[in-house]
Amino acid sequence: MSGTPQYKTLKGMQDILPPDTFLWQSVEQTARRIFSAFGFQEIRVPVLEATSVFSRSIGEQTDIVEKEMYTFTDKGGRSVSLRPEGTAAVVRSYVEHNLHSLPSPQKFYYFGPMFRYERPQSGRFRQFYQIGVEAFADPHPRLDAEVISMLGRFLTSIGLEGISFQINSIGCEQCRPAYKDALVGFFSDKKENLCPDCVRRFDRNPLRILDCKVSRCIEARSDAPRITDHLCQDCRTHFGKLQDLLTLLEVSFAVNPEMVRGLDYYTRTTFEVTSQGLGSQNAVAAGGRYNRLVKEFGGPDTPAIGFAVGMERMVGLLKQSASLTWPAPAVFIAALGEAAGNAALRIAGKLRDQDLWAEVGDAESSLKSQLRRADRLAARFVFILGDEELRSGTLKWKNLADASQGEVKMTEIQEFLAAI
Ligand code: HAM
Repeated sequence: MSGTPQYKTLKGMQDILPPDTFLWQSVEQTARRIFSAFGFQEIRVPVLEATSVFSRSIGEQTDIVEKEMYTFTDKGGRSVSLRPEGTAAVVRSYVEHNLHSLPSPQKFYYFGPMFRYERPQSGRFRQFYQIGVEAFADPHPRLDAEVISMLGRFLTSIGLEGISFQINSIGCEQCRPAYKDALVGFFSDKKENLCPDCVRRFDRNPLRILDCKVSRCIEARSDAPRITDHLCQDCRTHFGKLQDLLTLLEVSFAVNPEMVRGLDYYTRTTFEVTSQGLGSQNAVAAGGRYNRLVKEFGGPDTPAIGFAVGMERMVGLLKQSASLTWPAPAVFIAALGEAAGNAALRIAGKLRDQDLWAEVGDAESSLKSQLRRADRLAARFVFILGDEELRSGTLKWKNLADASQGEVKMTEIQEFLAAI
């Protein structure tokens, strides 16, 4: 009997096990297929970067940088951090490798683990996985619309239901300062109604008050000025064109002027995909434009846009709508005796050459126990191979699903399986 395990995963971290891993793989395959059709190519960046890569881009005064980064000093005395998200690292790579010299727009996607020291709860982990994309060097709202519609296409293709897009424009360096002033003016005589976090945000990052989930802050901001009423002409035109294009591409969306994102690098378009099934942590994906970040990293003035999908949240939703089945072997070869066992290995090898999952029974154990194992694995076909079959060159087969059975020549197994 096994006792209490000596080691367990850390709080907020989890093992992803079969059959869930099969679902993860199929989601990743769909992402690759759809993103490739839009001209996105895979990029892989390290999980560990210099801390400043994240702190300067995401923003010193954001929750992520202030409270949630896994930061430590390495043996060379450098401050390094596990990546809390992918965008900053991709921008670092884009600038470091002069990727802007490639034909534009340059479009990348990535899969991988991210790390945030958050309070774990349903849909919120300390190690979680994102599928993300980043597209560079095209300022036109056409790119925003394409990226958003690609995300919609991806989520629908994997079978997510009940999702909705919320979009916003949070302006640019021309119009946002005046909007911030308007917000500060609005909240200055309401500070006592705000939660302690929002009192701090008032001084440092007033836009984030719009995102607070505390009910008295929601109440206090009910008449707050709206960013969409304070956009400069260029931002207003960009946002208007984006909405026209989304309508053209049949992406349904709602404008949410209160949606400000938890990362400071955004300019103009921001968006989130929410789902009824997710409860309070309800964004399954989110993203936006970040037109200044490449320049801030020392590269040329290059607009960009991207998004990231939270894998755990997405897979959680998929599991709510469909039951998971374990994948099963196509063929289980039950063999009786050493000679048959050897022949079974050779037959299995031929089937595996054709990418079929073939399992071989333990030739020393009884037929009954081998069949029990085939049954437990839910193999589709069982082949039975003993001295008699070796002599005749003909195998017995049984379909475990419908109990049909018959015989097939050893030389014709591949054709037999291909035919069904
Ligand atoms: P984000 O909103 O911080 O944006 O994260 C994107 C998605 O990652 C969220 O919508 C959520 O599904 C998932 N996620 C975030 N934190 C957690 C967590 N602790 N546990 C589980 N899932 C989580 C970004 O990360 C930006 N880099 C997106 C982006 C790309 N913007 C432009 N390009």
